[in-house]
Amino acid sequence: MCGIVGILGRHEVAPVILEALRRLEYRGYDSAGIATVQDGRLERRRAVGKLVNLSDLLVHEPLRGRAGIGHTRWATHGAATLENAHPHRAGPVAVVHNGIIENFAALREELAAEGVGFTTQTDTETIALLVRRELEKGASPRDAAEATLGQLEGAFALALLFEGEDDLLFVARQGSPLAIGHGDGEMYVGSDAIALAPLSDRITYLEEGDRAVITRAGAEIFDAEGRRVNRAVQRIEMDAARVEKSGYRHFMAKEIAEQPRVMAGLLEHYLPADEAARIALPEALDFTDCDRVTLVACGTAHYACHVAKYWFGQLAGLPCEIDIASEFRYRDPVTSPREIAIFVSQSGETADTLAALRHVKDRVKQVVAVVNVPTSSIAREADLVLPIHAGPEIGVASTKAFTAQLGVLALMALRAGQQRGRLDQTALAEHTTALRALPGLMNSALGLNETIADLAEALAGYRDVLFLGRGTMYPLALEGALKLKEISYIHAEAYAAGELKHGPIALIDTQVPTIVMAPRDALFAKTVSNMQEVMARHGPVVLISDAEGIAEAGSAVWKSVRMPEAPALTAPILYALPAQMIAYHTAVAKGTDVDQPRNLAKSVTVE
Ligand code: AGP
Repeated sequence: MCGIVGILGRHEVAPVILEALRRLEYRGYDSAGIATVQDGRLERRRAVGKLVNLSDLLVHEPLRGRAGIGHTRWATHGAATLENAHPHRAGPVAVVHNGIIENFAALREELAAEGVGFTTQTDTETIALLVRRELEKGASPRDAAEATLGQLEGAFALALLFEGEDDLLFVARQGSPLAIGHGDGEMYVGSDAIALAPLSDRITYLEEGDRAVITRAGAEIFDAEGRRVNRAVQRIEMDAARVEKSGYRHFMAKEIAEQPRVMAGLLEHYLPADEAARIALPEALDFTDCDRVTLVACGTAHYACHVAKYWFGQLAGLPCEIDIASEFRYRDPVTSPREIAIFVSQSGETADTLAALRHVKDRVKQVVAVVNVPTSSIAREADLVLPIHAGPEIGVASTKAFTAQLGVLALMALRAGQQRGRLDQTALAEHTTALRALPGLMNSALGLNETIADLAEALAGYRDVLFLGRGTMYPLALEGALKLKEISYIHAEAYAAGELKHGPIALIDTQVPTIVMAPRDALFAKTVSNMQEVMARHGPVVLISDAEGIAEAGSAVWKSVRMPEAPALTAPILYALPAQMIAYHTAVAKGTDVDQPRNLAKSVTVE
């Protein structure tokens, strides 16, 4: 969604805030702005579009001051215009906000009835206007802020800066994450620890409903009932370099290339090499008397759940239901006290997924979070957290998190099969051996980069692309279509290969390439038939398969990508790489903004 930053510094803060916003730009980049207290006065600079525009503005119109707040926006209420850019200001108060004030229309009406005018279309401006109204009644900045919070409904992480207050920030979180960084004579606040990585590794995460009065001396934190509380100051292992591109042209390229190492690290954590086939998942994860598994997520994470649905059924004999989080709670899902509900989320902050977790939390046996941020909201509200250890993922298009999610989900399904007597030691050892071989196979797949870059050059000229897959390759086809459309803006759709003839085949002509993801497995022969149906209608086919599959498919395919052979369990994880690389190189060929595609944000913290 949006990214917010606040700093009480010992020196000029505008450049430091700008750098922190750069680390948050993956959360939204429709506009950006900074406000500081400069010789007691509130000053603002704002710019539409990417952060570089604000940076340019600050060169010509610098901001001074040692106290400031900053914001990078993903537009919700109000178009991406300069008027709607944060920080918003009303008289002596400025505010930056991430979230949605759901009762802002009623609040605007109330203010309008008092003759208050508005300069923006945003919900956030209402916050500043309400604080100003309280200040005008004689309230102190803190009391004015507290009185305003009591009138807000919805989700917000916000920071307030006051004219004449060079050593004061008031911050609050409800539904959107907020972290406080502790410096030496300085204090920081940010939407996540990544923003604060170069400034401090001592981080306090605010809990739901918390607010804090921050000065350079520290932070006084209060809970939703106004009680003073102590929240732990944690040491965050955030290597600032890990959130840099490290020589790659894009974060996405770096994160695709990191996957063998990420997978190796994840397996080292959960599948210790010195312990044969022991899966080192928490003992509390027990599927023995579980009667069903439900997997809920959004986007790419949902496709990981879709693959896992096959695994839980095939490996553990467990009925498994999957759902996209934004639909889940509205269909009144039937739950069971013996059900294990698994919520998968890279950011751990996706509002729909968090809301889905809350919907079933007290109605199932166990809520498990599979996340990349163990301190995230979803992690904190789950009964059990399984980190995927993928490291910070900055590119908006999720890549290494997807394969790491699959790695953890595969281990969960194997654990379930073992506990339910469906997998004996031999079978288990076969699967764990396959997983241990995965980093090597991933490295081989990365070696296809040039082949795929050439393919992408050709694909970039098309407007519509289809993806087909069967079995666990069907969700991989869905993920491949999502990757391609979200960063290259080419319209892409995916179908179960067997479904093509039930309608979608009407789309096939010479202008619609079909990418078929099909290792030479038990379903391959049927998929070849589907390919023939496409080619018989002059549709160009790209076959992603292993040597045997490509040989069997014959020379009629338009292009092929030859993958290393992989066992059935790890094939869907491995085939994520060509799907990602096709999307990446096609986007590069089209010149779109790979790391920050239009209209998107990395973490959607609004429903
Ligand atoms: C994936 O490439 C997209 N950026 C998007 O679908 C993402 O997977 C989805 O928003 C879920 O995010 P999460 O994993 O952080 O919950």
